[in-house]
Amino acid sequence: MPESNSFDASLTTARQAMAARRWREACEHLEAALARRPGDPAVLRSLAQSRFASGQAEQALQALEAACTTAPDHSPLHYDRAQLLRRLGRVEAALSAAETAQATAPEAPAPALLLAELLVEAKRSAEAVDLLAPFFTANPEDPQISLAFGATLLAAGLPDEALAPLEVAASQPGPPGAFALHNRATCLADLGEIDASVAAAEAALAKLPGLPGPQWHLGLCALDRGDRPDATARFAAARRANPRMALAAAYHAALLQLNEQDDATKAWREAEGLDPDQSALREAVTHHQETSRREGAAPAIFGFKPSLLRFALAQAPDQGLHCEFGVFTGRSLRLLAETRPTPPGGWHGFDSFEGLPEAWLPDEGAGAYSTRGRLPEMPEGVHLHGGWFAETLPGFVKTTSAPLAFANIDCDIYASTADVLQALTGRLTVGTVLVFDEYFAYPGWRDHEYKAFRELVEQRGLQYRTLALSPFTRQAAFRIEALT
Ligand SMILES: C[S@@+](CC[C@H](N)C(=O)[O-])C[C@H]1O[C@@H](n2cnc3c(N)ncnc32)[C@H](O)[C@@H]1O
Repeated sequence: MPESNSFDASLTTARQAMAARRWREACEHLEAALARRPGDPAVLRSLAQSRFASGQAEQALQALEAACTTAPDHSPLHYDRAQLLRRLGRVEAALSAAETAQATAPEAPAPALLLAELLVEAKRSAEAVDLLAPFFTANPEDPQISLAFGATLLAAGLPDEALAPLEVAASQPGPPGAFALHNRATCLADLGEIDASVAAAEAALAKLPGLPGPQWHLGLCALDRGDRPDATARFAAARRANPRMALAAAYHAALLQLNEQDDATKAWREAEGLDPDQSALREAVTHHQETSRREGAAPAIFGFKPSLLRFALAQAPDQGLHCEFGVFTGRSLRLLAETRPTPPGGWHGFDSFEGLPEAWLPDEGAGAYSTRGRLPEMPEGVHLHGGWFAETLPGFVKTTSAPLAFANIDCDIYASTADVLQALTGRLTVGTVLVFDEYFAYPGWRDHEYKAFRELVEQRGLQYRTLALSPFTRQAAFRIEALT
């Protein structure tokens, strides 16, 4: 037991130990203070911090839980608890603690920013947008709020709306400004504005030259314009900037394999050592190479989804149905409708607007990609059909005899893709272009869009040309050549 015998003396000594980062000693004095004033929330909070810093995460959590019980209305305690639970990987508990922190201090930005990040991680980005919007409206020049709001809009599939708040944050020096610029680069790429995206990523690097993210992004830009040597060099640079960045290591390995370089195997070993899931990208690259050999020509590869969509649409017939299955916030459908504004009968977008009907990936459960029933704004000539495919599609197909010219199938899971292909099977014709947005290159890809397409090929005796097979964007595009 420390010698100090009063609450104040214990606390003073503890604070000195904390300032000197002597965490074990700080814990002893804080426990002595607590013995004199059990349940004191401020002491418990310091004790949690000191215990965590000395490697006792579970005991830190106990201290915070005790403090939250004695002072349930004190938001910072719930905030710390949420942060700690997040670090411990207990995502649901962290989310619930952050909700309490936010509810007990609804005007404070910090708990709202934390809650928004956790909602985004839980794929509830639309809720995160609604949460942060009033903070941004009240503080439009605050760089921290602008950066968080912009990043949340981007995660929610609203890159065009994210650009303005990110511009506010981009004027900041150092890391916050560089992160904002990198996010702007991602928004612009999502919108298909690749030159502007390159400029934003280069500006991010100018602000913080060691940042791996923008280097990696510039690698994708290089891939998008077919410059494989530059893409290879960029991914290598991202890897040097952060040797633990699995995506940089995997993308570099993928380029080495596509370039048929000897060091690909070693690079893959390193990438898969960092993240075993990267083996899915390796399988996708191998699938691309096998397809090239089988068809006698290499299918196109892109760095960003809009480029593949434009490329595939350009090869679809002008006449016939133009559809998208999986609209969400309308990002890809708007791009398609802007690229080919006046197909006969217009564009048709189908979505529940309630998200996925069942789980797809471990972190993308039922309800992921919900817009909470909100239909996105669309240009003239785009018709939205709200509801589950199995309910809306059979009726729609009866309203027209037109064949299918082009479909962007972006509904992720097997059952939904099979519903779409089943309903459309009678409208497929020679020349129909089918794009699958999540065809391959992620763990479990053979069980979803890929599987539904293989079944269609089997059932209809489809012969097709693979227009694009893009491991980095996960998309595939096929043009039907013959069918029975
Ligand atoms: C990844 S999002 C689409 C993204 C969109 N194309 C974009 O570019 O932002 C997948 C969408 O598919 C929809 N979806 C999946 N299965 C569905 C089904 N069976 N019926 C209706 N909508 C479905 C979800 O609601 C979700 O909006």
